[in-house]
Amino acid sequence: MRHDALQVSGLSTGYRDRQIIQSLSLPVFRPGEVHSLLGPNAAGKSTLLRALAGLQPATGSVKLGERELIGLSLAEHARRVTYMPQTLPQGVALSVLESVLGALQASATDHPGDVGGKAGHDADQRRAVAILERVGILHLALEGLDHLSGGQRQLVSLAQSLVREPRVLLLDEPISALDLQHQLRVMRLVQELARERGMIAIMVLHDLQIAARWSEGIVMLSQGAVVATGTPAQAITPDTLARVYGVQARVEHCSRGGLQIMVDDVLPGALPAGARR
Ligand SMILES: Nc1ncnc2c1ncn2[C@@H]1O[C@H](COP(=O)(O)OP(=O)(O)O)[C@@H](O)[C@H]1O
Ligand SMILES: [Mg+2]
Repeated sequence: MRHDALQVSGLSTGYRDRQIIQSLSLPVFRPGEVHSLLGPNAAGKSTLLRALAGLQPATGSVKLGERELIGLSLAEHARRVTYMPQTLPQGVALSVLESVLGALQASATDHPGDVGGKAGHDADQRRAVAILERVGILHLALEGLDHLSGGQRQLVSLAQSLVREPRVLLLDEPISALDLQHQLRVMRLVQELARERGMIAIMVLHDLQIAARWSEGIVMLSQGAVVATGTPAQAITPDTLARVYGVQARVEHCSRGGLQIMVDDVLPGALPAGARR
């Protein structure tokens, strides 16, 4: 397994007539690390992740080890970076297992040495079943996707991403529909897999407490620009929370490590978070 760091510098991206991110640079993401991308609605978090995944046009540099990813074909890009979208598409008439196998086969070119035929099929089945088990949804394997709850669909989407064994995994609000126990299970699983595989995980989260507990690094984004980066304790402060979210908050450092974040109020005169000044 190769362990390459991800380095983003001078990245610009946006939509037809609107630049969302302008020459953005980030600290290095190292293999095995989990990072959280925080920021208000419309800050550009999803746009940034999609640009990193090669799913929308971008300029600048995104390097994985020595390899420049900007300008690679989508297939070449997808071999290295997987993006888990905020929502699974509706109206897909597949079982959970079929959808995970589909995600695996869509990435089949990643593994040119793979055996085809029955042996290959059996190996794919084993890999899909193993990931369903790890995500804790093996009991849903034969359910139709359209019969699942929002939280269950989110777990399936996670399994579809993980089964591809990407070197960089970008997760867009992966726990937004999950109950408390499943939120923690997913965070733990992503951390374990990052460490086992030397994978880099970057996740968009809204829960600051969870981000602080599970991330090596934090990137705070507001209006397409980086406001703070560093360890959770460096990046999540009353000052950055005021600037990014327009809230009045207290941040206490617990004796066992970790942060306790208490959000008390909306700051007087604050615009709705994400509103352009
Ligand atoms: N497909 C699109 N076309 C045009 N503008 C878009 C598109 N998707 C998002 N945007 C705009 O880009 C900005 C950032 O959106 P997004 O990256 O989705 O924010 P976040 O994920 O932080 O909530 C928003 O102002 C949004 O309206
Ligand atoms: Mg988003």
